[in-house]
Amino acid sequence: MPHEVQGVVALAKGEPVTVETILVPDPGPGEALVRVQACGVCHTDLHYREGGINDDFPFLLGHEAAGVVESVGSDVSGLTAGDYVILNWRAVDGQCRACQRGEPWYCFNTHNATQKMTLTDGTELSAALGIGAFAEKTLVAAGQCTKVDERARPEVAGLLGCGVMAGFGAAVNTGKIGRGQSIAVIGCGGVGIAAIAGARIAGATTIIAVDIDSRKLATAAGMGATHTVNSVETDPVEAIKELTGGNGADVVVEAVGRPETYKQAFYARDLAGTLVQVGVPTPDMTIELPLIELFGRGGALKSSWYGDCLPSRDFPMLIDLYLQGRFDLDAFVSETIGIGDIEAAFEKMHRGEVLRSVVVL
Ligand code: APR
Ligand code: ZN
Repeated sequence: MPHEVQGVVALAKGEPVTVETILVPDPGPGEALVRVQACGVCHTDLHYREGGINDDFPFLLGHEAAGVVESVGSDVSGLTAGDYVILNWRAVDGQCRACQRGEPWYCFNTHNATQKMTLTDGTELSAALGIGAFAEKTLVAAGQCTKVDERARPEVAGLLGCGVMAGFGAAVNTGKIGRGQSIAVIGCGGVGIAAIAGARIAGATTIIAVDIDSRKLATAAGMGATHTVNSVETDPVEAIKELTGGNGADVVVEAVGRPETYKQAFYARDLAGTLVQVGVPTPDMTIELPLIELFGRGGALKSSWYGDCLPSRDFPMLIDLYLQGRFDLDAFVSETIGIGDIEAAFEKMHRGEVLRSVVVL
């Protein structure tokens, strides 16, 4: 018998989202049914609603979530009813060419539940990032469930499922920021702030936050930035150089997703430094750079998919750091809201008023 629950659905492009009754099947082979407890509101949810990801409407939104496993499919091992889990959107298959060469965080064949959740009339829903967690229950692949310490409340644990992991991993996994190094983070929303927090934990000693919004810079300073630069008032490339002995930063994280900030990140690096792009651009964006500068400056230009994370390795570790008081995940939760408040949360996000609004179910 499918489970009849309430979920937040984007029915048509550009239309406000609505709370609908949805049908969630019992888990089949390889699947898990999860009772969602909390789910953060992310830009990607808004991109889905606006048709910016694809046209597979209707979408069941929400993908930054924690909850408790209600039941698992017949052949699932290592996961049982009652497990407290964070949902991830890159369940690795262990067999593709990336996994085979020992780089499973790049897995080219990540998987989701096989069965579809539907509206009551049978219309199939596309689950955002293969999750769909603005719903009381959701159906995912068992590999999308990562068990963590249940002492971390779901409002904060769920945030690791997307933006916070992406930012932390951009600095630590992709950028490989280390002890005594310098890092600049351009864009201090939830993703950039998490990169700053990660850099502090990794031991970076110069952590430069860049944003156009002074409210975000104040938050960045509280989360570990040693210097802040308002790039409306100051040329960020010059400022970053000045703060790093005239050289530029060892690592620059671009957490906006725009050509102009990518260029700033490119030029704000030290020679042979690393640029990490974690901000997601739109398909129309292009950049032009002198080829001689690409060669002459050396180093690495990397993109970071989901913070190059391995959920099974990184989620429990970050939860431990949180429980030890070394990673302030509480600071990312600007407000908790109900399932009917998503449109208002999109507006607050748009106005830059929140790091994260988190739906509690
Ligand atoms: N220069 C510097 N900062 C900027 C600029 C700019 N030109 N334009 C915007 N910003 C700042 C905003 O003020 C905001 O603080 O970038 C930040 C973006 O934060 P959010 O909108 O909260 O987005 P976030 O969730 O952090 O995601 C950032 O990473 O994963 C991607 O899709 C995500 O592209 C998005 C990016
Ligand atoms: Zn997201």
